[in-house]
Amino acid sequence: MALQGFSIETQDLTRVFRVKRREARGQSREIVALDRVTLTVRRGELFGVLGPNGAGKTTLIKILATLLSPTSGTARVLGIDVAQNPWEVRRRIGMVSGGESSGYGLLTVEENLWMFAQFYGIPGREARRRIRELLAIVGLADRARTKVYHLSSGMRQKMNFARGFLTEPEVLFLDEPTIGLDVGTARALRTYIREWLDEHPDRTILLTTHYMHEADELCDRVAIIDRGRVLACDAPAALKRGLQGEAVFRLTVDGEGDLGALLANAHGVVRFTAEARDGPTELSLILADEGALVPVLAALQGAGARLLSLEKREPTLEDVFLRLVGRALSEGEADAASR
Ligand SMILES: Nc1ncnc2c1ncn2[C@@H]1O[C@H](COP(=O)(O)OP(=O)(O)O)[C@@H](O)[C@H]1O
Ligand SMILES: [Mg+2]
Repeated sequence: MALQGFSIETQDLTRVFRVKRREARGQSREIVALDRVTLTVRRGELFGVLGPNGAGKTTLIKILATLLSPTSGTARVLGIDVAQNPWEVRRRIGMVSGGESSGYGLLTVEENLWMFAQFYGIPGREARRRIRELLAIVGLADRARTKVYHLSSGMRQKMNFARGFLTEPEVLFLDEPTIGLDVGTARALRTYIREWLDEHPDRTILLTTHYMHEADELCDRVAIIDRGRVLACDAPAALKRGLQGEAVFRLTVDGEGDLGALLANAHGVVRFTAEARDGPTELSLILADEGALVPVLAALQGAGARLLSLEKREPTLEDVFLRLVGRALSEGEADAASR
């Protein structure tokens, strides 16, 4: 029995991909894209899945949207098992992927959305009203009569975003909805996501992102995932409160030598990242407490590094990720490719 009030429940959800090795015929290796993921999302929630490239976000969303089957474990959407009853789930959900470039090129933007509305049996007048409204929201009103074939990829993304809301699904899955969009458009889409849920409090949105600001600003609760595992799941404020005893500093230093090795051995440094940008190095430090800063500064000075700026800041979800994983959220990208 599904617990009342849960829109999404997963129990030990696991997905393994078997990839053939090109060099060794017949042999294959396994990639564990999802590793025993157990999550619950409440009805009415805007739930974020935050993780670097390759963390398993798309795999999770595809399983929940019945596009991919689990290797083991279970997933229920609106109380319905996705593996046992995919058609029933499909009728009641929507899914949009920020990276997709779907749409019929020969039809106009308006015709594409109209066709989709017809599939879902939305009455003509209502469909026209929603299409007009959504196109204005995503900033495509002046492209309504443009053939999709002539749209830029960003414009297609906006059209697909509109498509996701057109059918007013009970559960909407948004896979990196703002990826690659300009700051202004991304903000407009986020505002709309929030407003839509405020207007439809019985609906649920699960969105994935690798933008920590997006997860922080937008989501009621966030699951931080890495390498297929859920590392933490809570409201953004609560996740950040978890770092409270510790102190987060950002330093810019100029200096030769391996500052990384120096910091790795410094007393009181819990986690750090060091990023060199043509010259000065930007350091993010999570220290056991504020007092640990003094010996760190002394060690840097001893190594001949010059301090250019120093700032104590409030923890962000980026710091929460760094604390949990030991590397920056953005560092996952190169790593994912080599997995
Ligand atoms: N069809 C597939 N075949 C083999 N490996 C896959 C496939 N889809 C995803 N993966 C692998 O599973 C892991 C998780 O991928 P994905 O869910 O796309 O992550 P994310 O969406 O967080 O970037 C990655 O290591 C990826 O390479
Ligand atoms: Mg993805």
